[in-house]
Amino acid sequence: MSGDAVQPSVGRVPSSLRRHPDRLRWNQRYTGEPPTFDPHPLVQAAMTAGLPDGPVLELACGQSGSALVLAKAGRHVVAVDISDVALSQLSTEAERSGVSANIECVLADTASYDPGEEQFALVLATYFWDATAFAAACGAVMPGGLLGWEALARLPDDERPHLPWRIPHGELSARLPERFTVLEEQLVVSGGKRSTRLLARAAPAAQV
Ligand SMILES: C[S@@+](CC[C@H](N)C(=O)[O-])C[C@H]1O[C@@H](n2cnc3c(N)ncnc32)[C@H](O)[C@@H]1O
Repeated sequence: MSGDAVQPSVGRVPSSLRRHPDRLRWNQRYTGEPPTFDPHPLVQAAMTAGLPDGPVLELACGQSGSALVLAKAGRHVVAVDISDVALSQLSTEAERSGVSANIECVLADTASYDPGEEQFALVLATYFWDATAFAAACGAVMPGGLLGWEALARLPDDERPHLPWRIPHGELSARLPERFTVLEEQLVVSGGKRSTRLLARAAPAAQV
């Protein structure tokens, strides 16, 4: 697995990430933003849909209440983000809640993060988009496991269509490999924010 496991006080940032613009931008944002640790609704949706046994991978996790809820439910969670500030906040809260043994914080750029051979019962990413990471995430879902993804939606009336981290509603399911079945895909409107949310299940082993 590439990336660097992070402890509550983040001691070492790899030189490749030190000046990474995403790290600098998000570190600054998280430094001034007290965490709420609210889980994303996809966590409850995934639990309701049914998860096989196994670990969870969360990409671009941020301060992640989702990782905390899943760890409290007994899952081993690999939580990946480029912001050492966010991972430090998550890690501190995991310690405080007594679930730090279940959360492995990994400081990495999702564009180059490789989950390795391990397969996950749930791969989750919320309010994030990167096509390479999405393809890798699909490959990391175990047979019978779930992919949960939500990204900002690019709609025809979008005033800033050039922004790279938005995708058209419907594109998440269009990019799924054949072995997946869509359980839920919806356009979520919340205040001025519009996002596209997908929950999909990989075919069980016998059908792969
Ligand atoms: C809008 S926040 C979403 C955080 C969290 N998933 C949530 O739902 O609240 C986007 C997250 O993506 C992370 N991020 C941005 N670029 C990244 C990259 N290249 N590699 C890994 N994480 C990245 C940021 O640090 C931030 O935590």
